[in-house]
Amino acid sequence: MNSSGNVMEAIRSGQNALYLLDQRHLPDRADYLTCRSEEDVADAIRTLAVRGAPAIGIAGAYGLWLESLRLRDMPDFEYQVHQSAQRLERSRPTAVNLSWALGKALKAINGLSAEASILALKAFADKLLAADIQTNRTLGDWGLSLFPEAVSVLTHCNTGSLATGGYGTALGVIRSLFREHKLREVFVDETRPLLQGARLTAWELQQEDTPARLIADSMAAAVMAKGWINAVIVGADRIALNGDTANKIGTYSLAILAQYHHIPFYIAAPLSTFDSNALSGADIPVEERDPEEIRRINGQTISPTRFPAYNPAFDVTPGAMISAFITEQGIIKPPYEQVLAHIKESRDDM
Ligand code: MRU
Repeated sequence: MNSSGNVMEAIRSGQNALYLLDQRHLPDRADYLTCRSEEDVADAIRTLAVRGAPAIGIAGAYGLWLESLRLRDMPDFEYQVHQSAQRLERSRPTAVNLSWALGKALKAINGLSAEASILALKAFADKLLAADIQTNRTLGDWGLSLFPEAVSVLTHCNTGSLATGGYGTALGVIRSLFREHKLREVFVDETRPLLQGARLTAWELQQEDTPARLIADSMAAAVMAKGWINAVIVGADRIALNGDTANKIGTYSLAILAQYHHIPFYIAAPLSTFDSNALSGADIPVEERDPEEIRRINGQTISPTRFPAYNPAFDVTPGAMISAFITEQGIIKPPYEQVLAHIKESRDDM
């Protein structure tokens, strides 16, 4: 295990390149994808070679740095860098961390020369990566305060070191529980259509010998009905000021199931995932992906060719169904509106 608490780093920068652990190939192959331009990074984000809200924010910041290297001799350097940020931002629409990170990066180079901007963009991306690991460790430890006794939890998608700078958000809380001997077992939803739970979360948990079992998404209700789940802990891609939360498709169904079974439902997310411009879930753009992802599992066709399919990558869970948010600044409990409006200020200061 390395210093960031990861089994393998998902994001690593080099002299003139960004290296991304290519999550499309996990768990079969752990190889690194080399990115040398904004286009390389945008493509990696679009195709989910790098994924997870905090991770795509960090990758986006490095993408802007890589592009600034290529643009260094352009007379309209500043304009071109802004254009590049806009293109990167469009690579995936739902996770607000991407536009948040790019906005911060542009602010960091305001009024600087090309050479100074290049240095500042690299320094910003490095800082964002290091700060994210620390944020997740703090957030993970805040999560402990919710669980006085050992628990079995259910999680969805991948929110671990692969989805962040390191340690993870929801999986960070689970890591902290395991470290403190407060974790009985983790139930891992497979997370159709792209299997982030089965491929990525299971891979991370296995490397650390965390007690865990994989289930198909359709089994969550049955497992809850057996009384095996004490809490659901998931991450977020964008949180509106009333607490409505966009996360991986299937999260909303889990919240409904948890409510029916009287199981607390927690969202673990850094402040960078709160969107101060979104009043409610209606303001959150939900990405729709290629229907082909529904017609296939791991590249294998499972339905008639071109059979119509619908493929939203995220859903929005109403704030009213969320028991609490676990953030690096502590636990936020309902009613959310006032607290989240207050958080808006701290987030904008970062
Ligand atoms: O489509 P993905 O794999 O990028 O979706 C990721 C999720 O929905 C995660 O739960 C979210 O980004 C939080 S990651 C700490």
